[in-house]
Amino acid sequence: MNSVQRLPDKNRIAHAFGKAASSYDSYACLQRDIANKLFSHLDVSEPVSILDLGSGTGYCAGILSQRFPDATIISLDLADAMLRYARANSNKQQQDTSEFWLCGDAENLPFADQSFDLVISNLTIQWCENPHRVFSELFRVMKSGAQASVSTLAEQTLMELKESWAAIDSYVHVNEFLSCEKIVQFSETQPFTSAKNIHTREIWYYDSLGALTNELKGIGAHNQNSGQASGLTGKSKLKKLKQTFENRRVDGKGIPVTYDLVQLHLVK
Ligand SMILES: C[S@@+](CC[C@H](N)C(=O)[O-])C[C@H]1O[C@@H](n2cnc3c(N)ncnc32)[C@H](O)[C@@H]1O
Repeated sequence: MNSVQRLPDKNRIAHAFGKAASSYDSYACLQRDIANKLFSHLDVSEPVSILDLGSGTGYCAGILSQRFPDATIISLDLADAMLRYARANSNKQQQDTSEFWLCGDAENLPFADQSFDLVISNLTIQWCENPHRVFSELFRVMKSGAQASVSTLAEQTLMELKESWAAIDSYVHVNEFLSCEKIVQFSETQPFTSAKNIHTREIWYYDSLGALTNELKGIGAHNQNSGQASGLTGKSKLKKLKQTFENRRVDGKGIPVTYDLVQLHLVK
């Protein structure tokens, strides 16, 4: 159960997301849509202290500060450049001192036990090597009765891209994700008093392979797994990949891409 995923080292993850800080918002429609889904299930009254875990450019913190203007909101992210961008673009930074930005790791949170009434984490924990550690840290920093709403991606995510690549070579070209069952099992290692898990397949349609890969790059989420091909991918391979991916096109819609979404709404 404590087994770890195969992910690149954290410096590399932080570097990729940090590099994407200024382009992220232009490409992050899916991330905003999923954040909105997460918020639609949020049923909590007047939290005093809130953690946005893996806060990126600050979309969730922005919603939280409007919804809970009196709360203290801490945005934590591995990528310093994401935090600097979020801070510079926060509505509240001029007048208010109740929003803070902190560089840190979801697997080793720099907070005392029982610090937060609410934790939001949108599309972050799939980047963590040890999900058991993430849930145990989450549980530790939540106050008794606190709520955590977490979204993450499971194994069918980007399966169309993965299958297209598999027809061409055996390198790892697409980030790998845990199954929904495994994710839920990891959350169940902590004694939450209630847990609602929502598993949905979100299908997004893209105009081309380039539109998808530009989006992944634009948000900093392009493939970072070990086992990826070193050096540039040859032109002939890319041409074949484009064609294989293109063969999936649905008339009038575009090329479907699956995002295997898991939401966990947990109460301590
Ligand atoms: C896909 S973005 C999501 C950002 C934001 N939550 C949103 O909804 O737009 C994932 C974020 O998680 C951060 N991240 C990745 N691994 C992390 C870790 N171990 N601890 C904290 N943040 C991490 C990345 O730097 C990135 O900003």
